[in-house]
Amino acid sequence: MATQNFDVCVIGSGPGGYVAAIRAAQFGKKVCVIEREQLGGVCLNVGCIPSKAMISAAHLMHRVKHDAPEMGFEIKSEIKLNMKKLVGWKQSVCDKMSGGVSQLLKGNQVTVIRGEANFKSATELEVKTKDITLIIAAKNFIIATGSRPIEIPGFKIDEKDVLSSTGALAMDELPKSTVVIGGGYIGLEIGSYLAKLGGQVTVLEATSTLLGGVIDRDCVQVVERKLKKNGVSVIFEAKAQGFAKLSDGYEVSYGRGDKKEKIKCDKILLMVGRRPNSDQTNLKNIGIKIDEKGFISVDAQRRTSISHIYAIGDIVGQPMLAHKASYEGVMVAEIIGGVNRAYDIKSVPAVVFTDPEIACVGLLEHECKEKGYSNLKIGKFPFAANGRAVSIIETDGFIKIIADANTNVILGVHMVGPEVSNLISEAALAIEMGARLEDIALTIHPHPTLGEVVMETAEAALGHAIHIIQKPLARASVEAAARTTH
Ligand code: NAI
Repeated sequence: MATQNFDVCVIGSGPGGYVAAIRAAQFGKKVCVIEREQLGGVCLNVGCIPSKAMISAAHLMHRVKHDAPEMGFEIKSEIKLNMKKLVGWKQSVCDKMSGGVSQLLKGNQVTVIRGEANFKSATELEVKTKDITLIIAAKNFIIATGSRPIEIPGFKIDEKDVLSSTGALAMDELPKSTVVIGGGYIGLEIGSYLAKLGGQVTVLEATSTLLGGVIDRDCVQVVERKLKKNGVSVIFEAKAQGFAKLSDGYEVSYGRGDKKEKIKCDKILLMVGRRPNSDQTNLKNIGIKIDEKGFISVDAQRRTSISHIYAIGDIVGQPMLAHKASYEGVMVAEIIGGVNRAYDIKSVPAVVFTDPEIACVGLLEHECKEKGYSNLKIGKFPFAANGRAVSIIETDGFIKIIADANTNVILGVHMVGPEVSNLISEAALAIEMGARLEDIALTIHPHPTLGEVVMETAEAALGHAIHIIQKPLARASVEAAARTTH
């Protein structure tokens, strides 16, 4: 068996892996990527991109039904959903993106190897392709093999009786009734679009809050109200325990305190978190250190316990987000390329594509307090007071900015409302740069845009937003505000 030699071998072609491969190739390195499934990984094929396609489609249908008549459109016939066609369109979006990744890798002279990789030693991989087994040797390896859905007792994911997000996104018939187990990111995103398309959705959530308690409570409340309005019921403190197959569907049993309850449905979706794929690729046998939660232990440069083997993305820990993986991918490629870099970021922005969207970056209020910021300035501004939001009938939600009252340095920004997935980047830049409230308040934001809400929230934190009525400023604050503008 001939050995193929590379400078950099990337295992996994998700948003961590393919990005790392391209960046390494930009340094003139001889690079290969090994992928056992589709180029682009979970995110592009069965995660972020297809779910956003389905969410956009459902939102469009919802707007045509509910907002278009308000705007004056008369829709004469019933709007019918052709789920097969919709899923076909969603697949075309994924195929386009995956094809794009393939073109980018090719254009950067990255060798793509389709197969399953396992470490033979710390310097060699064995790759089983469809036809042959290859040996790949490399000076540096980047493990970007991601994560997979967690299963719980009583529910084994087979994509037939119990579906993960992969199976849910592929359903070419809209289930009349769906039980979603888990009120986290995935459960709420998928549950919301199924309900908007016309299905009945019940979310069973083991705890008393949605989104794992990691999102600002006020933001979650807005989504909770909208879920109800859109026909999603949430049962809190409901621990899914098992299910029985019926002639016409399923009966899911769950515990609530001492009580055991049951609910009937046509589909069961299991969305209770994801676990790193660190039990694969023969990592343990070559001596790569894995922590008690199953994440590969890495340093600030994302080196594993074997220094020429790096690991990035979901497999190294929270937050399990595509953009964090891409960031690490670029960083590791640059380190291999000779740049002195380390993972030293202030915060990773997160977006939940519910209705309305939630986006946040930086600290929650209680985290600010825990970090010793005892004196905070908090500004809140509603989308209902923004002209652009009113004109598109998307007025639910607000932006909240938390700053250190002593310095006005922005510590956290929490948004819920229209297009906040796009608005959060300004806040991420502000936090990364150590910006103060005045930096945002004194930046001209174009009118009429949703972005003005970011500016007005900073003004609200300073006590002088124009489009909401605020309590008159104390004399000292007026003077301080005046000083900052000179
Ligand atoms: P999650 O960790 O966000 O939520 C899982 C939920 O399931 C929790 O609220 C938990 O209390 C609940 N749960 C656990 N066992 C249960 C049981 N027996 N019965 C009822 N409820 C139970 O996990 P999820 O939604 O699967 O997402 C996994 C990861 O994927 C997230 O951590 C996120 O980082 C990533 N993701 C990110 C997205 C984005 O950036 N927009 C979208 C989708 C996923």
